[in-house]
Amino acid sequence: MRFDILTIFPGMFDSYCNESMVKRAKAKGIIEIAIHDIRKFSAERHGKVDAIPYGGGPGMVMTPQPLYDAIMHAKTLNKGPVIYMSPRGKLLTHKKAQKLAKGGVSRKGKNKQAPGLILVCGRYEGIDQRVIDLCIDEELSIGKYVLTGGELAALVVLDAVSRFVPEFIGKHESTVEESYSEALGGKKEYPHYTRPPVFMDLEVPEVLQSGHHAKIKEWRKKKLT
Ligand code: ADE
Repeated sequence: MRFDILTIFPGMFDSYCNESMVKRAKAKGIIEIAIHDIRKFSAERHGKVDAIPYGGGPGMVMTPQPLYDAIMHAKTLNKGPVIYMSPRGKLLTHKKAQKLAKGGVSRKGKNKQAPGLILVCGRYEGIDQRVIDLCIDEELSIGKYVLTGGELAALVVLDAVSRFVPEFIGKHESTVEESYSEALGGKKEYPHYTRPPVFMDLEVPEVLQSGHHAKIKEWRKKKLT
């Protein structure tokens, strides 16, 4: 699955995209990530990408030209939907992440359907509405709070969606039985314990140490919330 991310702070993605699971998935070709610097598309001097809002008010708004051109460029590389990260968007859920991972958008030169996503990160007060009207397929929020920009939100989408890309998760893990999954009826998962059996006077529940699979299953079911 291919992710094209548009931002004026490309450096913000360096560490996250080069560590742990994402690093491994990139190396194996399971996911592909391209970060595009919106400033590089600006036709103005010094790569200017913002201006004061029409109608007045505080802050700056991202101008349409650099964003429009950056999105058009990304669309030549990625056939997936263009998603604008915004607190005004629809809330991201487990189900939505799963759906985005399926994508169903085929890419040339590959047999299997490899979906993609273009994630647009805004800064300042937001982006010019005309870019949304012209190019954005969907606005997505990661929660009912306002971040200083869409970059962290895009990383959240990248992470949550990648987990559902086949082979992203290792052999010993699974997205089948986890919080919010269908298998757990959309509920939150049971608690986990590991060694040692006693820590700070707190014991691992006896049933989990019993090896009695049916009883463990029942205990875990009861612990779903
Ligand atoms: N940009 C700023 N706040 C955001 C949020 N809550 N979700 C997605 N993008 C954002």
